[in-house]
Amino acid sequence: MKNKSFLIVANWKMQLSFKQTLQFCTNYHKQFISISNLPHKKIVLCPSFTALYPITQLFSNTALAIGAQDCSRYKMGAYTGQVSALSLAQLGCSYCIIGHSERRMYCHESDQEIAEKAVRLLEQNIQPLICIGESKHEYEQQQTKAVLERQLEPLIPVIQHITHAHDILVAYEPIWAIGTGTIPSTEYLTTTFTWLEQYLKKRLPLHTAILLYGGSVNEQTITHIANIQKISGLLIGGASLNFKKFNNLISLL
Ligand code: PGA
Repeated sequence: MKNKSFLIVANWKMQLSFKQTLQFCTNYHKQFISISNLPHKKIVLCPSFTALYPITQLFSNTALAIGAQDCSRYKMGAYTGQVSALSLAQLGCSYCIIGHSERRMYCHESDQEIAEKAVRLLEQNIQPLICIGESKHEYEQQQTKAVLERQLEPLIPVIQHITHAHDILVAYEPIWAIGTGTIPSTEYLTTTFTWLEQYLKKRLPLHTAILLYGGSVNEQTITHIANIQKISGLLIGGASLNFKKFNNLISLL
């Protein structure tokens, strides 16, 4: 696996306070920089909004990239509490997670809204990391492909229209695998990722899709997941909050 390229995205969610995030990044500053220089690995850290500016400053002029966990669907205006893609770009973010299942669930985000966020990000040259995934019930009812297709469909014209040169990043995160320690079988992942790759090739023939997996990536599961040929990135929640664990994961790739 050593020569396989991986995009590794740490999603810190709201697990660390502003001060804890700064402390984490300051304590492991050298180590974060050194993992970001590993061949074939691209590391993206996604702290909460409030920590974005100091963290982009801390790692400016390094290979480490910084991403946000969400952005507004609107350009600017009277949208209390929202953060624009323009501001994210000004802060130095080069990636932004959109459509995470926790936002779909707790903030009732629709597929259309997520597509609008992608437009805002692409306008600012920020790479959207589009999260998709089915619930346990949908998985049990064998509705995975239909759900993924429904989630992706509004994004297709957006991507076709705005950007021809961009890679597109799609993270498949089965909701039932997030934070549970349970991951799908190799067969299931192979089938799903093969389908996803073919679907995107058909719908977006001019783009290159980079496919990530997220949901309970840890020291026990990472090799199994990363060995799946179509998976070229990982979105890591819990296991990215401890530097030693995160570093071990990366060393296993
Ligand atoms: P987890 O979270 O690695 O803690 O399962 C992944 C995610 O929600 O992106």
